[in-house]
Amino acid sequence: MKVLVVGGGGREHALVWKIAQSPLVSQVYCTPGNPGTASLAVNVPIKADEIDKLLGFAKSEGIDLTVVGPEQPLSLGIVDLFQEYGLKVFGPSRAAARIEASKAFSKDLMRKYDIPTAAYGVFTEVEPAEAFIRQTGAPIVVKADGLAAGKGVVVALTVEEAAAAVREMLSGNAFGSAGSRVVIEEFLEGEEASFLAITDGKEVIPLASAQDHKAIFDGDRGPNTGGMGAYSPAPVVTPQVHDAAMEQVVRRAVAGMAAEGCPYRGVLYAGLMVKDGQVKTLEFNARFGDPECQPLLMRMKSDLVPLLLAVAEGSLAGRSIEWHDQAAVCVVMAAEGYPGEVTKGDAISGLEAADMLEGVTVFHAGTTERDGAVVTSGGRVLGVTALGTTVAAAIARAYQGVGTINWRGVQFRRDIGQKALNRGV
Ligand code: AMP
Ligand code: GLY
Repeated sequence: MKVLVVGGGGREHALVWKIAQSPLVSQVYCTPGNPGTASLAVNVPIKADEIDKLLGFAKSEGIDLTVVGPEQPLSLGIVDLFQEYGLKVFGPSRAAARIEASKAFSKDLMRKYDIPTAAYGVFTEVEPAEAFIRQTGAPIVVKADGLAAGKGVVVALTVEEAAAAVREMLSGNAFGSAGSRVVIEEFLEGEEASFLAITDGKEVIPLASAQDHKAIFDGDRGPNTGGMGAYSPAPVVTPQVHDAAMEQVVRRAVAGMAAEGCPYRGVLYAGLMVKDGQVKTLEFNARFGDPECQPLLMRMKSDLVPLLLAVAEGSLAGRSIEWHDQAAVCVVMAAEGYPGEVTKGDAISGLEAADMLEGVTVFHAGTTERDGAVVTSGGRVLGVTALGTTVAAAIARAYQGVGTINWRGVQFRRDIGQKALNRGV
């Protein structure tokens, strides 16, 4: 069968890498893809948000299954559109993707269906928002309602900082219309985990546990990014936490979405805060996490394609997923300036040498080809991902890979996976 992967980041390179291994698949296409996907798939220059063009391509090429990586096409209704034309597609409908696309929708769903989360208020005007901030006190968290590539959240340490974030967002300066409504919520303490599951709207199968590293600098300091590294399994997800995440968060969300008339199909990603074995939901995402997808797919033993098809067809019941015992760690290498304005076009050295290391796969994200050389073209440039018998072994290999790669201004965190080591894993 022919499979189309929509997107061009590290997550999509990992999806292409895994899907291309399936004996069911004769050809993979990636739109727009990147130099990494080019070695495994046919890259087609259509952007992920050009959903009409994507439909035209899928129809003319006779695509049997489309897998949507990023959130934008989901929130534009790519799944609804493809289904209208009888095409199989993996991902939630436009209505169901609101679980990520609107933080107010998502928080209201959590409240209605008793999904544990931080106390919150939703505001469109500065004055009541500031009153809420003064009443709650700091630290406090301000979130733009709409999509902001993981950067629309300010964890404010003072009331003044929170009020400034609210004014910035509501004025439209910070995130345009995505910030015309804000969610303000109680600050939660604890350790974060990324809990992902696939669902066809009824049946739910959890993926292996994972942990992301959202802040730009070591020790979780500095502004938030899309994610600077991830690993699996994550020992913060104890059996007790796993059960709480499944029963109190994911199953309630899936049942709630069905009750709301927008059944959820695809990957449901719950961002969790874990403290003393209790979970609270920070957010839902309507897609695979990036970079969590990279270590998760390296650990997945099962063929991914039958699972994606079963989700698209609503026939997930009776299936299961097998995992390799090995751990996997992904270290993101980012361009100078990320998560702000970045410099582009810097030549990357050492890619082949890193890829040749045992157990190491370099997933491309913000790269492009210029005169036969691979150069930087975005914020997160590469995800150097490694398998190892333990998290510690996988960390060592991933950083060995990172050590062979270089470009002007490269930045990466040096403490990816450290929280697992702190737990004695
Ligand atoms: P979100 O996109 O809502 O997951 O927020 C991005 C990041 O901000 C999270 O991964 C956390 O690191 C942080 N964050 C969000 N909400 C809270 C909260 N209520 N308390 C503490 N940190 C938070
Ligand atoms: N790594 C977090 C995300 O994909 O949203």
